[in-house]
Amino acid sequence: MDVQTDWWKETTVYQVYPRSFQDSNGDGIGDLDGIIRRLDHLVDLGVETLWFSPFYRSPQKDFGYDISDYRSIAPEYGDPATCDRLIREAHARGLKVVFDMVLNHTSDEHPWFRTSRSSRDDPMRDWYVWRDGRGRGGKRPPNNWHAMIGGSGWHRDETTGQWYWTQFLPFQPDLNYRHPAVRAEMLDTMRFWLDRGVDGFRLDIVNALFEDAEFRDNPFAFKLLPSDDDPSMLFQASSNTLNHPDTLAFMKELRCCVDGYDHPSRFLVGEVNAAIEQARAHCGDAADGLNLVFLFRSLTVPLLAPRMRALMAEYEKHFPDPLLPTWVFSNHDRLRRISRLDGDLRRAKLNAAWQLTARGVPFIYYGEEIGMLQQRLPLRTALDPIAHRFPLPQFAADLLRSRFKESINRDESRTPMQWDTSANAGFCPAGITPWLPAPENLGGRTVEEQRSDPDSLLCCYRRFLRLRKEHAALRRGRFELLPESETGKHVVGYRREAPEETLLVLLNASQSPQRLPSAPTGEMLASTSAAQRTGDSEPLRSLAPWEGFLLLERAAPTDRPGHDSRCDP
Ligand code: NOJ
Repeated sequence: MDVQTDWWKETTVYQVYPRSFQDSNGDGIGDLDGIIRRLDHLVDLGVETLWFSPFYRSPQKDFGYDISDYRSIAPEYGDPATCDRLIREAHARGLKVVFDMVLNHTSDEHPWFRTSRSSRDDPMRDWYVWRDGRGRGGKRPPNNWHAMIGGSGWHRDETTGQWYWTQFLPFQPDLNYRHPAVRAEMLDTMRFWLDRGVDGFRLDIVNALFEDAEFRDNPFAFKLLPSDDDPSMLFQASSNTLNHPDTLAFMKELRCCVDGYDHPSRFLVGEVNAAIEQARAHCGDAADGLNLVFLFRSLTVPLLAPRMRALMAEYEKHFPDPLLPTWVFSNHDRLRRISRLDGDLRRAKLNAAWQLTARGVPFIYYGEEIGMLQQRLPLRTALDPIAHRFPLPQFAADLLRSRFKESINRDESRTPMQWDTSANAGFCPAGITPWLPAPENLGGRTVEEQRSDPDSLLCCYRRFLRLRKEHAALRRGRFELLPESETGKHVVGYRREAPEETLLVLLNASQSPQRLPSAPTGEMLASTSAAQRTGDSEPLRSLAPWEGFLLLERAAPTDRPGHDSRCDP
């Protein structure tokens, strides 16, 4: 591989939610200096790319996903010089840096929107999507379009009597991508950051950029609630508002923008809420669109062998080489994976082994490496605007959580990173109230405690991340899923094969020990349990409950990595 060009294909990404990572100035809010202070943890963990949720200037009504100036830093997070230092310090440690770019909408406090809404004749009027309403006095929304989060996405503005369109919340007006100046400005904004050394972007709801040019109604769909692979809901399809052909075409322009940079090359990963075929379409027919798209089925997939096999087979079918799937199990919008796994650290280790050995780019959410739990926070005091958008009574939210493992209060997955057992879990000093509370009982789920325990989840992540760095087969090897007949019903097995070596992964996705139909041999590289010895193994006959193994089946003698891969905390 060309290291300068294709690094993003082999990288491992860690999502930092800046507000919650590390407070350095005692205001209870995480900041850029705090991230810099903690970079060594990320190096030690072994991730290679950092994605930062937005820290541009913003009224923070949606905690940074409502931007009021794309080229400056929100003062609570730092200043341009600190941002440059963050990029420099990360690069100096061999880490790549990915910024979050919200192309679809701005804040309603952005000066562009302020001028745009000031009069129908304002030169910036068409930077946003304005439309006359229907009915007498234009009092009804222009058409039936729902926002992505449900309910009409049209909002009447009293000053000019027209309606503006929002795909998300009412204070996040959509930019009009049919206007050449908007496209030019946003591409230029990306270049502004690329010139400062940013290695790529995570593109927020990028499948929502263009709507139907004729504003035709969305068709009926027989579907009440949205799912991770179909955004239709409330009996409405989203074909005129999401995944529009013009959006797909624009992905190529975005790609050209990042491809204008090399040494090293840059990349794009898109947030695309769509069926897998549509998600794939955003990567372009000739792999000339987005480099990667998030695939969200993994967020909710049960840790059961048949479901895991089916998911991998599906990803392979839709994302064959040169495309690559992504492996996302948690993020700042959804229930933390560990809480779907009932907080069980053995299952979390198996999940990590799966994520870090499958073919594709893994995305790890901050705190996932220590099994940080989703907190339970009251809806009434939620800071997340989504929690107030759906005025559910607390018992209904609790039911949603226990029955469907979903939370409408995103604060719960954004609580402070748990560094140690000191006040506020080491996120901010004693006596300061953090923006969201850290749990009182940390239950050993801190970096400090897990760092020195070889059997911890953290050390499991470290072992597998280190092996990914050392073994070409894990980073770019061919993928072969083993049939159930070769592994048994509850064990997921696959090979990763590169010219240099062949690796075998076996994951016991069950709470009982499993005997293997055949007994593979090879060198044991890692296990999810630290107690398992590494080195040449006896034929492997069984797996303990929730145990995962990585075995070196074949290695070309000269290319054998001469490194002991155990976690040495
Ligand atoms: C998706 C982001 O992940 C979410 O946090 C945000 O609220 C919406 N897009 C709107 O930008």
